[in-house]
Amino acid sequence: MDSLPEQYRIGIPNLDEQHTRFLQIIEDVLLKIGDGKKPKELVAFELIQDLKKYSIIHFTYEEQQMKKIDWPNINAHKDLHHDFNKKILEYNSISNSKNEKNLSKFKELTVFLKDWFLNHIQKEDRKFAEYYLEKKKQSL
Ligand SMILES: [Fe+2]
Ligand SMILES: [Fe+2]
Repeated sequence: MDSLPEQYRIGIPNLDEQHTRFLQIIEDVLLKIGDGKKPKELVAFELIQDLKKYSIIHFTYEEQQMKKIDWPNINAHKDLHHDFNKKILEYNSISNSKNEKNLSKFKELTVFLKDWFLNHIQKEDRKFAEYYLEKKKQSL
């Protein structure tokens, strides 16, 4: 994914860039799972590391931006990020149980996370962006 489709852009350049990167990682994971060339455990390991790392970077940055302007919904939004992080942990249990259904479970979970993320950008991050952009306009 070179650029984020219009409907997922929220108008804050740094966040749009991070969302693009995030989706790239998820797409890469789906591709890796799709070609079936790597041992399942290796796919699992890379996937967990990349996604975990980037979700921390992105959510931390985004929450900092929210705090900076005292966005009133920050706590509810943090809870949503927390739900995503909890869901990511399901990869651990899949990679620890070595059975042949692993790959399809990986795919299922990754597709779930992708949908969750796109939906989150469109609905939740957008709410923040609207508030942020409005505040910015007022301070000019
Ligand atoms: Fe976000
Ligand atoms: Fe968010």
